[in-house]
Formats: sequence, C-alpha cells, structure tokens
Amino acid sequence: MKNNPIGIFDSGIGGLTVANAIKEVLPYENIIYFGDTKHLPYGEKSKDSIQNFSRKIIQFLIKKNCKVIVIACNSASSVSDNSVLNYSENKKVFNVIDPVIEEVVRVCSNYNIGVIGTKATIGSGIYTSKIQELCNSANVSSLSTPLLAPMIEEGFVNEEISKKVISNYLSAPILRNIDHLILACTHYPLIQNEINEYYKGKVNVIDSAKIVAHHIAESLESENLLKETKETEHHFYVSDYTESFEKSARFFFKEEVKLEEVNLHL
Ligand code: DGL
Repeated sequence: MKNNPIGIFDSGIGGLTVANAIKEVLPYENIIYFGDTKHLPYGEKSKDSIQNFSRKIIQFLIKKNCKVIVIACNSASSVSDNSVLNYSENKKVFNVIDPVIEEVVRVCSNYNIGVIGTKATIGSGIYTSKIQELCNSANVSSLSTPLLAPMIEEGFVNEEISKKVISNYLSAPILRNIDHLILACTHYPLIQNEINEYYKGKVNVIDSAKIVAHHIAESLESENLLKETKETEHHFYVSDYTESFEKSARFFFKEEVKLEEVNLHL
C-alpha cells in the first residue's frame, strides 16, 4: 500500500500546480494524474455534473490502486459530499479547500480576505461559510472570475490579453479593501506573477498548492503511508488529448510525459 501511487485529478492543467507542489514536498511518491479535458471548464457545470465526473474519476483512480486521492480542483472540492466520497472505497480523499481555510484562519483573522474562483466554487459560498464558521472576525469578499481558467488552459499567460483580463477582475469594487487573496482555483498559480504584479506587494496572495501539499505530506506521514522506495514513475491521463496539457505536464515534471487518452464514458 505505501508504495502505491497518489491519485490526483482536475478538469485540466490546473491540478498540475498541486501535483507539482506534492512532487516538491514528496519527491519519491508516484503520481497518477487525470485531467478531464473533455469537460473543462468545470466551473460552468452544474453541481450534479461535477459530482458525476468526480465519481467516475475516483473509480478510475481506485482501479489504478491509488493509496489516496487528491481532488485538485476547487470546483469539484466545493461539491464533493458523501455521494462522491463514498466511491473512494475507504481510501482517504483530500480536497484543496479545507487545508487552505485552516491556514488562512490561523494567520489572517481580523483581516479582509478576498477569494477568486470559478462560478461553481464562488456560487457554493463554501469559502465564506467555512472561514466565518471558524473565525467570525474575518471579512470575506468573493468574486467569480470565469474567464481565467479557460484563458490559462489556452495558454494565454503573461500576455497583453491576460494582464487586461486579470486587472479587469481584480479592480472590481468588491475586492477593493482586501489584505489577502485566496486563489480558489488550481489554475490560478499559473498567473500568480501577474496577480502579484497587479497588487505590487500590497496584498498577500495565498499559494494554495503549497499549503495542500504540506497537509498531504503530514497526513501520509502520520498514517505511515509514505513511499519507501526512491525510483518514481508518473502517469498522466486525459479524457481528451490536448497539446497544451502535454506541454504543461512536461514543464512541471521536467521529464518526458506520455499522455494517455482514456474514455471514462462520462
Ligand atoms: N482548476 C479548477 C478549479 O480549481 C477548475 C477550473 C475549471 O475547469 O473551471 O476550480
């Protein structure tokens, strides 16, 4: 069991930011990644559809003998209730929301916290309700930024277009007085430099991927599930082959990536 892979999924390349952070903290773990590129963007889909995609992908990762599963997608994490989690056959399932909320509540109480994410994530209200449940002095302002994930997925990063779209969203009056900004979509670390440039150091932009990776490492260690051998083998699957996915996987993993297309009949 210890030497079995960690299963990670997202709608596309966003979850690779989490996979990459996990690889940095746990360099000897094997990773199986599934990008549901056929159904991207998840942020525009209904709760039922996202839950249905998540169930099928979890079943696929369990068949691949994953020892734990990481829902590396805020949109899917925000709707993952027991009707989804029960498909993990008692393997632990991590989401990308709870570890970030714990950290934010620890360091950011009494502050104005901004949250940006997809329509599905922001519409679920999960960040606001969970932060305020743990810390009622925190003031949370959230904004859905639906163009960002498709823009990043299409490779529009560090360009005139991306800078304009980003500054258009971040200048929204609702985000005017924030001290911290949670990037509540796993695609967004890919534009973190542009977001930092926009704020010029005045807002603390929170890197969720690192927080989630440390949380997973601690949990695997405490449950005695860390891999014992050093050689690694990663596998990448998508529901629809895209060149941008292959390029990003290669960029993050700095190795030849063999991308396999699989049909999960979703
Ligand atoms: N990266 C995902 C998230 O964290 C999904 C983006 C999308 O497919 O809309 O929400």
